[in-house]
Amino acid sequence: AAIMKGQFDHFMQKEIYEQPESVVNTMRGRINFDTRSVTLGGLKAYLPVIRRCRRLIFVACGTSYHSCIAVRGVFEELTEIPVAVELASDFLDRRTPVFRDDVAIFVSQSGETADTILAMRYCLERGALCVGVVNTVGSTLSRETHSGVHINAGPEIGVASTKAYTSQYIALVMIALQLSDDSISKEARRQEIIDGLHDIPAMIKSVLMMDKALQQLAKETLAKEKSLLIMGRGYQYATCLEGALKIKEVSYMHSEGILAGELKHGPLALIDEHLPYVEESSFGVDCVIFIMTKDSLYPKVQSALAQVMARKGQPIVICNEDDATIDPAVRTIRVPSTVDCLQGLVNVIPLQLLSYHLAIMNGVDVDFPRNLAKAVTVE
Ligand code: AGP
Repeated sequence: AAIMKGQFDHFMQKEIYEQPESVVNTMRGRINFDTRSVTLGGLKAYLPVIRRCRRLIFVACGTSYHSCIAVRGVFEELTEIPVAVELASDFLDRRTPVFRDDVAIFVSQSGETADTILAMRYCLERGALCVGVVNTVGSTLSRETHSGVHINAGPEIGVASTKAYTSQYIALVMIALQLSDDSISKEARRQEIIDGLHDIPAMIKSVLMMDKALQQLAKETLAKEKSLLIMGRGYQYATCLEGALKIKEVSYMHSEGILAGELKHGPLALIDEHLPYVEESSFGVDCVIFIMTKDSLYPKVQSALAQVMARKGQPIVICNEDDATIDPAVRTIRVPSTVDCLQGLVNVIPLQLLSYHLAIMNGVDVDFPRNLAKAVTVE
């Protein structure tokens, strides 16, 4: 059947709006919210091997790499196995040492990304257990890995990956949950996360309702800027990287995700100085987005925000709905609050919407940005 845009102008927009349903499809038949348990059929037979492995190596490119960064912390916490997260090209460039007792997890929407496929074959040759987390059923990655999980997000047509990100994120969290379900000490935390997952679709839906306000924000404050920094830390570092990738790929605006912990190691200089190509010293003031939802790192992000504001930056802050500590003069994007390790699923939505609107304002054909292909099948 032909895939239609329906009421939407572009596939990217349709796919952003599909997320309340696509994330449900990822969880369907796998999470039992009554018994609070997770079962991933494809992985079951391999659980003992994975639990005993020396290292989990995540390998991916682009947005799929960001979903690995997003879940790194929750894997470390729940499984207590050392985790490496690798960009497929760099992993291959370094001829990274891989052993029989490693488990390699390949994450890909298309299942046809050349770098990721080559990295998988490299790991297969070295005897590692290879797991695929793929959207496209029957793709090379899903066929050639030993086992895996389909994310079931449905076909993604827009070059910019949106619904695949949220579904990969959830699929990976489910793997971490299942891997740790033999650990009593992690039981309460697992239940908290499963309850959190239950409410994610409704939260995504409520953020989508802010679309008009985000369009307005894009138009009034961001569209004329040449560069945009997105800052955060901890679980939100992945959101920063993913938001910046979305913005640069569809709107052609320069954008960078910055780990707030690195601010004083260099990037803070951008706040006073002006990027060389920006005329009339307009850089700095309107071009920083802070991701500052409540978690254990909140005070640290708060101090990074204070440092930027002390240098006359006027950031936009993504924070929780009920956050009363932020200066009322600061522009905020307020989102519902969930479990720390799932908050990125909610926080990425306004950035997807902003990137979409910026692209439209810049006259870009969002579904087919220049120089990019949906699946990068060459090295
Ligand atoms: C994301 O918006 C990009 N178009 C791109 O980074 C993509 O995520 C990357 O090429 C990986 O693709 P895959 O998930 O199909 O392997």
